[in-house]
Amino acid sequence: MRILRVGVEMLENSHKLRVTISGLTFRNPTILASGILSSTPGLIRRVVFNGGAGGVTYKTVTLKPRSGYSNPVVAVVKAGVINCMGLPNPGLNGVLEDIIQVRKILPQNVPLIASFASSDPGEAQFIAGRLEDAGVNALELNLSCPHTRRLGLEVSHDIKLTESIVESVKSVTRIPLFVKLGLQDNIVELARRVEGKGADVIVAINTVKAMAIDVYARKPVLSNIYGGLSGPAIHPIAVRVVYELYENVSIPIIGVGGVEDWYDALELILAGAKAVEIGTAIYRKGIGVFREVCRGILEYIESEGFNTVNDLVGLAHKR
Ligand SMILES: Cc1cc2nc3c(=O)[nH]c(=O)nc-3n(C[C@H](O)[C@H](O)[C@H](O)COP(=O)(O)O)c2cc1C
Repeated sequence: MRILRVGVEMLENSHKLRVTISGLTFRNPTILASGILSSTPGLIRRVVFNGGAGGVTYKTVTLKPRSGYSNPVVAVVKAGVINCMGLPNPGLNGVLEDIIQVRKILPQNVPLIASFASSDPGEAQFIAGRLEDAGVNALELNLSCPHTRRLGLEVSHDIKLTESIVESVKSVTRIPLFVKLGLQDNIVELARRVEGKGADVIVAINTVKAMAIDVYARKPVLSNIYGGLSGPAIHPIAVRVVYELYENVSIPIIGVGGVEDWYDALELILAGAKAVEIGTAIYRKGIGVFREVCRGILEYIESEGFNTVNDLVGLAHKR
């Protein structure tokens, strides 16, 4: 591939990287994933201004504060990271001021997505309404955390409950509703059903339930025994899921899972994602990963003769 000398300013202003998802314009297709450097205005400022992310997903919030699981909550394994944080957060009232502040500091073309979790339709509706009032650009319903009791995957396994949560949120909010799904056998059916209830975007995937064992202690490493695996090991799974979803739903898809470089991001885009979220790669490569991915995508667009990144979405399906 021809190596272009692409400066930061050019990267941030290139129309070739700009994507529009459900009416929201992102300056580039790399979005900070929920839960990694995404819980304070200071961290988010660094990821956007120093790192170059094109969008931000705030750490998942619940109605009441949650302390999460006790340590150890992270195990670094060969193929990535297993975490069992347990969705710790200060609760809805504890994040609203920060969210208002974050929206004020972000450029207009860097949308702020607020992630939230609930297992109750009325409660989900209430949380969504408050987040919308705080000025976020989109909501991301987290139906996919694999290690938290009565939240995440435990909710999405009940399709009827999932449908009523989506319906309830959609009945009061005007901003786009992203629904984040995780690895489960019926993910395609679930995606179709939430699309039927008005979801605007599917985000896939979350971490994959996993565990690590300390062979000297002869015990599980994590306090919760199980956690969620992220990083390179789950990337081909994310590619497969996005590919299948693209063939089965009409709403836009955002791909997540093990994106570490432009090649990984392009695989998800060619499979059908309009943008990618990036999390674990930040631990491994630093916040520069967003710009590195964008630079690589831009170079690919130029050297392969495309006009914009949008021309690449779903191309792997054309036979
Ligand atoms: C430490 C950690 C905390 C996370 N917290 C959340 C969270 O609060 N909400 C959520 O939807 N996903 C959460 N995730 C999942 C990520 O957003 C992402 O879906 C997953 O890690 C796969 O992407 P990656 O391989 O780029 O990290 C978390 C992941 C990690 C590693």
